[in-house]
Amino acid sequence: MKYFLEQEFNKLYNKDAHNAYFSPGRVNLIGEHIDYNGGLVMPCAITFGTYLLVSPNNDNVFRFKSLNFEDALEIPVQADYVKTGESWFNYPLGVIEQFLKDGHPVKGYDFLFYGDIPIGSGLSSSASIEVVTGFALNDLMDSGYSKLDLVKLAKSVENNFIGVNCGIMDQFAVAFGEKNKALMLNCDTLDYKAVDTNLGDYILAIINTNKPRKLAESKYNERVQECQAALTALQQELDIQYLCDIDAATFEQHKHLITDAIIYKRAKHVIEENDRVKLAAVALSSNNLAEFGRLMYASHDSLRDLYEVSGKELDTIAEYSKTDANVAGARMTGAGFGGCGIALVKESAFDDFSEKMIDYYTHKIGYAPSVYSSLIGNGVGLLAAFATDDTLKGKG
Ligand code: GLA
Repeated sequence: MKYFLEQEFNKLYNKDAHNAYFSPGRVNLIGEHIDYNGGLVMPCAITFGTYLLVSPNNDNVFRFKSLNFEDALEIPVQADYVKTGESWFNYPLGVIEQFLKDGHPVKGYDFLFYGDIPIGSGLSSSASIEVVTGFALNDLMDSGYSKLDLVKLAKSVENNFIGVNCGIMDQFAVAFGEKNKALMLNCDTLDYKAVDTNLGDYILAIINTNKPRKLAESKYNERVQECQAALTALQQELDIQYLCDIDAATFEQHKHLITDAIIYKRAKHVIEENDRVKLAAVALSSNNLAEFGRLMYASHDSLRDLYEVSGKELDTIAEYSKTDANVAGARMTGAGFGGCGIALVKESAFDDFSEKMIDYYTHKIGYAPSVYSSLIGNGVGLLAAFATDDTLKGKG
């Protein structure tokens, strides 16, 4: 891949790239829509992701090109930037804007991006592109950010430049992911543990609904506000900072504080989902995949009925999975409203699962999903340093 991209870089820019970087996408095993409520989540980095080849230029401009999209941007180096339209290059531009805001002058660079995360699949292509850009600039300019600083910077781009009030899970997962490990991340303290994803006879399947995601961003922000409303109501009696500061039993005792039925459902999902993650961690560490799978289905049902971020496409994935004896559990993953589902499938039955899932889904929805068997990979990193001059640190 790297060699193909080197050639492409050379064709587009008439020179060699200095460095190549890679940042993965992610799936979340369980703990959905609770990162912005101070909850526990269990994401893993996947082996699909975003490649970035980059080289400085002397033209005082940033050039953003991608092999995935037609649109490209060339923009002078200036004091600040605003988001323009909905183009993909807003993500790297937002990262540069944050570097500038933090007082790190950025010189001109030529960037070439290539991603193999299916577009619009909810596997965090945006976090992946933000984190790879931040990581590359930090590396090239010795800006002194830690990996955690870069995660926070990328989240802030998403919140303030792009306008999605997301939590920190995606950026954290794509930066800190480890091969064959899930991250048990506490989104309040940002403490985390990389735990073995020992799935025994099972593998993780990713099922892309291939549904174009439309209202996702505005609905997402609406859910964030609804959680805030629930928190404010509970704070009348409880000294808490986040919804996930209480468990389901405490919530039961104080639920009268929430008078709006919709807000009540949102809070119930969040608090019970957080409890489920704790149980899932125990199940995973004791190789109890049947229990882990049960919790996945329960998570899906709650996202469908209480949090209302699923939809008939994602529901169909969970629905088929329940009928297949080779599946331990399945659920939607990520923000929802389309995107992907995941399922724990017996490795020996993966092809059969894939075929039957495609048939069932196509019959019900009218078009086919894509089914992948996923590998859990590493977080962001340098792939290669091609530069031989002194203007950049040589690494290899
Ligand atoms: C999106 C957001 C994350 C998280 C998930 C839902 O992926 O970017 O911060 O909230 O949705 O769990």
